[in-house]
Amino acid sequence: MRKFLTRSLAVSAVALVALSVAACGGSDRNDSGTGSNPSGAAKGFAKDALIGVALPSKTSENWVLAGDLFTNGLKDAGFKSDVQYAGASTTVADQQSQISAMITKGAKVIVIGATDAAQLGTQVKQAKDAGAVVIAYDRLITGTKDLDYYVAFDNFKVGQLQGQALLDGMKAKKPTGPYTIELFSGSPDDNNAGVFFKGAMDVLQPEIDKGNVIVGSGQKDVKQTAIQGWKAEGAQARMDSIMTSTYAAGGKTLDGVLSPNDTLARAIITSVKAAGKPVPVVTGQDSEVESVKSIMAGEQYSTINKDTRKLVAQTIKMVQALQTGGEPEINDTKSYDNGSKVVPSYLLAPVIVTKANAAEAYANDPKLAPLTK
Ligand code: BGC
Repeated sequence: MRKFLTRSLAVSAVALVALSVAACGGSDRNDSGTGSNPSGAAKGFAKDALIGVALPSKTSENWVLAGDLFTNGLKDAGFKSDVQYAGASTTVADQQSQISAMITKGAKVIVIGATDAAQLGTQVKQAKDAGAVVIAYDRLITGTKDLDYYVAFDNFKVGQLQGQALLDGMKAKKPTGPYTIELFSGSPDDNNAGVFFKGAMDVLQPEIDKGNVIVGSGQKDVKQTAIQGWKAEGAQARMDSIMTSTYAAGGKTLDGVLSPNDTLARAIITSVKAAGKPVPVVTGQDSEVESVKSIMAGEQYSTINKDTRKLVAQTIKMVQALQTGGEPEINDTKSYDNGSKVVPSYLLAPVIVTKANAAEAYANDPKLAPLTK
């Protein structure tokens, strides 16, 4: 949504922040629910309160890691925790009932990695009505004014880094264009998918306009490029059909593929190889073990390091601030308009990783560092 706010909306958001800051001045910030306290947070809560964490299904390694880190980190911070994953198929209904159960159990903060950005308004309102604070984790929740905070890596930046890596990788292999590429995006029910794609197109579109980059299949619209549920098999099937329609014998040569994450990147590479063609430059995201191995072996070109340990730690810091009745630290008040409000956010910086900087990028990651030796 970033950069797509209208100017007047951006201005009124600034005015709103100024107003709420003014309203806080000189008085007890936490004395009247949604009035003087912008988050609507309770006036602090017990040090061992229950914190709910509702995560989506395990579509990538980062979600598996996040669950363990929340369970251990919240325990170490003295809280009780209830960490749940949505199931693999009935994800939306699962997550909705998990959140409702957390509210019933009296959770004071509910951290949500949404399965479907637009389907949680009722549960977020229920949480708010019960006095709980809701933090959207990694994925924004849309269409609700009751969402309190958002904590994530800078998703637009992730997309820009992917777009730039694709251009750089192709140029390194073939100094002059034009380059023929294909575009993939993530699940349409995940708000991040559209933001990653916009970030990437922010870099790629000028090159497409100049004729330096050509989308071989002609499929440029985010709807044509989307992969429902971030499923590897969906990406593989789409790539299979593009290989047949556009890159079969006598067809074009594929130079690069914009892939929004590592799971899809590996599926795309599998498809190209099955078609008997050389592996093009393929981007990714998440620093998954198999993709880091592939990068070191010279197959996948790039990934993004979004250190889940940092994102979970930042979220737990927010919970701790709320526990004492304070306001969590935020560093962005303009990028994430969820359709009902601009959500106060804490955004972390993503890092692009290729074979060239992998050792440095993962130096502090005991799982990934050995793979780069
Ligand atoms: C996350 C990505 C992840 C994708 C699929 C997105 O919302 O930001 O890191 O690859 O979901 O799980």
